[in-house]
Amino acid sequence: MCGIIGIVTGHTVVTGLISSLKLLEYRGYDSAGIATMQDGQVWRERAAGKLANLEKKIKDDGVREGGIGIGHTRWATHGAPTEGNAHPHIVDNVIIVHNGIIENYAELRDELLENGANMQSETDTEVIGHLISQQLKIDKNIETAVQTAIGKLTGAFALAIMIKGEENLLIGARKGCPLVVGIGDVEGHYIGSDALALSPFSRQIIYLEEGDFVFASKEDYRIFDQAGTLVTRDINHVEVQSATMDKGNHKHYMAKEFFEQPDVVQHTLAHYLNMDDNQINIDANLDIKKFDRIIIVSCGTSYYAASVAKYWLEEATNMSVEVDVASEYRYRNPPLNAKCLFIVVSQSGETADSLAALRLAKHKGATTVAIVNVSTSTMSREADFVLPTFAGIEVCVASTKAFMCQISVLATLSIALGKAIGHINADQATTMASDLAQLPRLINDAFMVEPEIKELAHDISKVEHMLFLGRNTSFPIAMEGALKLKEITYIHAEGYAAGELKHGPIALIDEKMPLIIIAPDNEVYEKTRSNIEEIAARGGDITVLTTQKRAKEIRKLGLKAIALPDCSSFLAPFIYTVPVQLLAYHTAVHMGTDVDQPRNLAKSVTVE
Ligand code: M6R
Repeated sequence: MCGIIGIVTGHTVVTGLISSLKLLEYRGYDSAGIATMQDGQVWRERAAGKLANLEKKIKDDGVREGGIGIGHTRWATHGAPTEGNAHPHIVDNVIIVHNGIIENYAELRDELLENGANMQSETDTEVIGHLISQQLKIDKNIETAVQTAIGKLTGAFALAIMIKGEENLLIGARKGCPLVVGIGDVEGHYIGSDALALSPFSRQIIYLEEGDFVFASKEDYRIFDQAGTLVTRDINHVEVQSATMDKGNHKHYMAKEFFEQPDVVQHTLAHYLNMDDNQINIDANLDIKKFDRIIIVSCGTSYYAASVAKYWLEEATNMSVEVDVASEYRYRNPPLNAKCLFIVVSQSGETADSLAALRLAKHKGATTVAIVNVSTSTMSREADFVLPTFAGIEVCVASTKAFMCQISVLATLSIALGKAIGHINADQATTMASDLAQLPRLINDAFMVEPEIKELAHDISKVEHMLFLGRNTSFPIAMEGALKLKEITYIHAEGYAAGELKHGPIALIDEKMPLIIIAPDNEVYEKTRSNIEEIAARGGDITVLTTQKRAKEIRKLGLKAIALPDCSSFLAPFIYTVPVQLLAYHTAVHMGTDVDQPRNLAKSVTVE
């Protein structure tokens, strides 16, 4: 993770560095730092914790401007999130910020220590600074010295580097982590982790390729590939949606974002579904009949979106659908070939494991589709087909509206593929599509449970553990509910398939164990109802999320029930996501945790 920015304009850069870091804070907020150079002097400020701490420190100490500067927001990998481990690191003449993990850092560090290096931090980044500094003593040509030193690294990195005394030279390098170059709209050159970070200054973006180096001055830039050959890379005109760092009337981004769900789902559906005639139109030439399998790979909340889609796609296409977490999939040597339709689901489009899985699938000849929210992301550029979600920028680390949009796209895709393969007929497809068109209204109605959820959240905020249960598509929603709660309240929660409970976890049930049971009135309702009775018999503290009619029956058993709007089985995962999001949110608010930037997390996980 971590976000990096570098600016060379010859004018004042501090304001620009800070505005970019604000746009990069989603990549980590363990510490932040900047460094500038002017008149032979290097100025560095670093602070542990969020960017606001750095801003305060700069205000207290006074700004020292420069015509060149680099900045960093950190998600700690090597070394605690202290000021001493915060970037930029300075080693002799080398000033460096880094995103990624250097895998051979321990050997390199031992070697450097044996040769008398003085290490100031516990980071792998400092090792890179030493390697470059040593090489600069042997090779006075900065370009070749930097390339030789960086050539010794294994692992993943994106780097921004300045060399003392070189006030018109900004260096960037990437391998395994994204790095872009921006040609200033007005002046100068920029390097950053993504196009969003450069959006205040540049619409002309170059996506560096694996192993590329860039040497930029305020007037010019030169890019070398990993073989050291001077290369030309395409310049892309990018209009990045300006990140409205505005919570509207809400206390937290999370609340703003989940209340946007009816709108963003509408917007996403409108891209794939013609509301006039309920016809699905997927803009990707997927000849489904040539595939014998569908594989969906992703991480975290996106994995739960994929898990919901498994039920839909199997039902609609009668094809085998595999779903896996990317961190496991990529190292399993899975059987993949031209008969596989491989789908990656990702909000950011940058998640390291999901990206690696996508590349593996491409390499093995599968047809690849990326369902992504960030249109300028690496996955958007690398997949054979892109099916965008239109959630808009999601600021809160805990994903809500992106998930809803992911399942919206996966629902339309299921209908389109089912119809194309002939497992569902045109009438069935139209009925399913017209069902989807009801979503914005139904999601909106689902928010009516907020007062009851708020009350429940009060009780949940006092517990240490809880369980979420569901069957069929409610099983992934149970896991998503547990993940949301864990992420922002730090309460231990697990999501289980309701029928699996009796195979072990039922041993946990007593009157102190709260359970949320997601039980829409669908074809497995009666099965879930039996599970509810089994838990009730053992004294579990049950709240059932279900329909009005079923809620009445449940209350007659002396159990708590919260009634959601009636909907088809197909739409249930959308509607039942709302109460679990609300529960996590209101519990966190009761507990006073940091809802939008929970501890230890980052929005975009670009390390494996
Ligand atoms: O950007 P991606 O969708 O690939 O991210 C995957 C996960 O890191 C992400 O969903 C994470 O689990 C969220 N914090 C969940 O709220």
